[in-house]
Amino acid sequence: MKYLTNVHAENRTLKELFDADPSRAHRYVVSVAGLRVDWSRQPVTDEILQSLRSAARAADVSDRFRSLIAGEHVNATEDRAVLHMALRGNRSASYEVDGLNVMDDIHGELSRMKSFVDEVRANPRITDIVNIGIGGSDLGPAMAAQALAGDAHPRLKAHFVSNIDAADIESVLQQVRPETTLFVIVSKTFGTLETLTNANVARQWLVEALGEAAVAEHFAAVSTAREKVAAFGIGADRTFGFWDWVGGRYSLWSAVGLSLMLLIGPERFAEFLDGAREIDSHMIETLIDADRLDDNVVVTLALIGVLHRNVLNRPTKAVIPYVHELRRFPAYLQQLDMESNGKSVTHNGDEVDGATGPVIWGEPGTNGQHAFFQLLHQGTDIIPVDFIGVARPRHERIEQHDALFANLLAQAQALAFGRPLPNAPHRNFAGNRPSTLILAERLDARTLGQLIALYEHIVFVQGVMWGINSFDQWGVELGKELANALAPALSNDGVDLEHIEDPSTRSAIEWYRKNRSK
Ligand code: F6P
Repeated sequence: MKYLTNVHAENRTLKELFDADPSRAHRYVVSVAGLRVDWSRQPVTDEILQSLRSAARAADVSDRFRSLIAGEHVNATEDRAVLHMALRGNRSASYEVDGLNVMDDIHGELSRMKSFVDEVRANPRITDIVNIGIGGSDLGPAMAAQALAGDAHPRLKAHFVSNIDAADIESVLQQVRPETTLFVIVSKTFGTLETLTNANVARQWLVEALGEAAVAEHFAAVSTAREKVAAFGIGADRTFGFWDWVGGRYSLWSAVGLSLMLLIGPERFAEFLDGAREIDSHMIETLIDADRLDDNVVVTLALIGVLHRNVLNRPTKAVIPYVHELRRFPAYLQQLDMESNGKSVTHNGDEVDGATGPVIWGEPGTNGQHAFFQLLHQGTDIIPVDFIGVARPRHERIEQHDALFANLLAQAQALAFGRPLPNAPHRNFAGNRPSTLILAERLDARTLGQLIALYEHIVFVQGVMWGINSFDQWGVELGKELANALAPALSNDGVDLEHIEDPSTRSAIEWYRKNRSK
């Protein structure tokens, strides 16, 4: 990769690096906002970090970040600005899109959300919120609602429906009652098949029980396409908007967070935005206000990822939260990272000259330890790991939490330093397997905001290093188009299959037709 020609891999093992310089145990631990970030178990030295940071300078990371926050149309293939940072900006901030300050619009919508949320939270007739959306209109709110369940209004329960598989909505409808349910339909485009299908099922279910007039009281919507929402029958007073300069996977900070705000309340939601803004401030202070790229924690983490991907050829990365409430965080990150950086052409359409986004995967600790950690410790691939943990849990079983945290540390230790048993190869732990520790005092709305924003900016910096557009997602389009084209042939035996050129698909459809109504 063009900026990385001067970046070389370290020959020494992690153990040798620590032996040579024990001070890395504190020199490579930094604080950003409330987070303690420890990359001492990564295969880096001062020299490697310096060469990586020179590469980031050569790639103009600071300038690209300046373009981003200036509202330039950095998402060129969709001709859009990318300003999710503005969503968590103070009212006095001056984010502009096409010459217009967007802060009044953002805070106007936030205060409409707040009034609606206050009204619903004060209404004892509503006990269940059902968020219907998919991708960025589901993963963020669902992950965050689970992460912050401890802050939830005692009367309210949130449910999330995303899949076109009717088993999803069926299972939720079995748990709720029409009289006490508020459906929040979330779709940036209001044209997504899964969401509209499920929204129509919910509508019909409600109308059958309570009549057409109940739709007004039991539905709300979040979208950039207000006319389509109106056509669906949801009133303007219950429709919350956002803007085309907010990508779906970056939209949790906008009205897409409505279900989350309903659950945790406007104050906690504001703290969530505060946390993200603290990470934004770190970016601005070190890249824009001053030339302090070396002090930028996000940039360093992003560059360590690039080192793994491009210099050490590591195609996947595991993210393991040792916080049960964050069990959906890896799934959320999959969309954030893989939909953003799973690209193989550069901005001008040329093929990229190296690997781009890794496969992101993970499960919570300690569960993962009893499943795939075998491969992390002794498999033939080296898989970098991000461990996420907190010092204080929400519950009061402190000793159990000590055991959890001990496991987090033990895994990082075992991966890094191993336990050589040359005479017992099956029990030999070679070690030298890298990880980063990201720790917070506790998981609350603010730290969740910090954590998400940290990863958002990492994805951005890596996209710059790879010269790709992290903000489009054309790769999801073909499958949608083909599914629409195939659907009639599945439902109707009379549809001629001759027009389907691909014989393997034709034969699978024949099998499906034979079996679907047995
Ligand atoms: O299919 C991908 C995608 O476009 C995501 O980027 C997006 O978050 C999701 O679909 C849902 O889209 P919408 O919010 O428009 O329904």
